[in-house]
Amino acid sequence: MKKILPILGCAALLLCVLSCQRDPWTAWERKVITQSDSVMYVTVMPEDSVILRASSRDIPERAFGTPELQTLIAKMLATVNDPSQGGVGIAAPQVGINRRIVCLQRLDMRGEPFEPYINIQIDSLAGEISVGPEGCLSLPGLRGDVPRHTRIHVTYRTPEGAHCMEWIEGFTAVIFQHECDHLDGTLYVDRADSVYTDAAWAEEREAFSYDRPAWWE
Ligand code: NI
Repeated sequence: MKKILPILGCAALLLCVLSCQRDPWTAWERKVITQSDSVMYVTVMPEDSVILRASSRDIPERAFGTPELQTLIAKMLATVNDPSQGGVGIAAPQVGINRRIVCLQRLDMRGEPFEPYINIQIDSLAGEISVGPEGCLSLPGLRGDVPRHTRIHVTYRTPEGAHCMEWIEGFTAVIFQHECDHLDGTLYVDRADSVYTDAAWAEEREAFSYDRPAWWE
């Protein structure tokens, strides 16, 4: 027994070391990240529902500082900024990766930069609920009116690994809620009061404008 205990201890230590050094990325994730074009394929419903409807996992500590994380963020930013997409935010499941990463436009900051947020969580929903229009790169040709909170508190990590928290307000809070929903497999149409095709949406807006009195403008 005295001889077995040290051996068991060494084996446990070895297992622990091996698991800590385990590759933080799956073979599929590495393939998507490294082999995709700089503007990535955007997953769409219903073809990619397995990815878009899944819950995303946190980025583990050992993934911070890896070239894969840097590449994924750079490609997500290039994708959401591509003229063919023209979105204000994108979540990792929209490029085929079920991890808790979003890149979105901070309309509340000077210069309105796109910023990455890792392991993001909304831990408080506050403020009034306001209904506003939304669209999604993964639901092309559709728009909807969605009720959202106007003030939220978020915690997240930067690509460098820093832990951050902040209150977000206004339309930027709506973008955060839309993108974070993607990480739980939720799409805006699940929350929408009403959903329109682009054509019906334009028609409705036009009809509304006809109803405006002459002094409206
Ligand atoms: Ni979306």
